Amino acid sequence: MGDTQTGLKKAVAEAAVKYTLDHLDADAIIGIGTGSTANFFIDAIAQERHRFAGTVASSSVSEERLRCFNVDVFQLNQVAEIALYIDGADEINAQLQLIKGGGAALTREKIVAAAAKKFICIADESKWVDALGMFPLPVEVIPMARSYVARELVKLGGDPVWREGITTDNGNVIIDVHGLYPMPCDQSLEHAINQIAGVVCNGLFISRPADVVLLSTQNGIKTHSNRARA
Ligand code: 5RP
Repeated sequence: MGDTQTGLKKAVAEAAVKYTLDHLDADAIIGIGTGSTANFFIDAIAQERHRFAGTVASSSVSEERLRCFNVDVFQLNQVAEIALYIDGADEINAQLQLIKGGGAALTREKIVAAAAKKFICIADESKWVDALGMFPLPVEVIPMARSYVARELVKLGGDPVWREGITTDNGNVIIDVHGLYPMPCDQSLEHAINQIAGVVCNGLFISRPADVVLLSTQNGIKTHSNRARA
């Protein structure tokens, strides 16, 4: 990651802290994502930890980072509501549909996003694309089903590659699916992959896109709102 991209990620994380504080009550729970942009958000929101009730993390790595800053972390089952979920993405299109899972946390990220009233995606401008699919689509798979799922993914037109050496927080493996560009904007591919026995989750966020994208550009932070979900 270059200095410029790092600076853009830090800038959008700081903008997201301001956005969060402007949209939260003191008793609110914040959902926290995973990755380098989410890490910048954790570092900045931790300084404001007295302004909200606590967090739910989308990965053990983020949970640990939050605890290092003495931010309260709850399990999803302990909270009634997540007001805002803040997380990065690997690709974002104009409909605010996403590919996520570069950090292998896609399943918990999808759960926390689904449970959140509002999903705020934060990213640098390199993540903005005309169509999803140049970034290989991460799929979380039960280990015993890895080869079977790979064969089924080939039938869907993909070129699956096992992310060797990675075990998810749920004890599963990741298959990255290349060759699916350009992906359709409807839910067909997301649903078809979910139908394969042994698939736990895939990194397409089309059924549950972002509500707002804060995009860090050389000309400042651009806010994109999802009119379809407003
Ligand atoms: C982790 C993710 C991340 O949000 C995504 O990979 C973006 O990461 P970064 O902020 O480091 O560019 O989906 O599973």
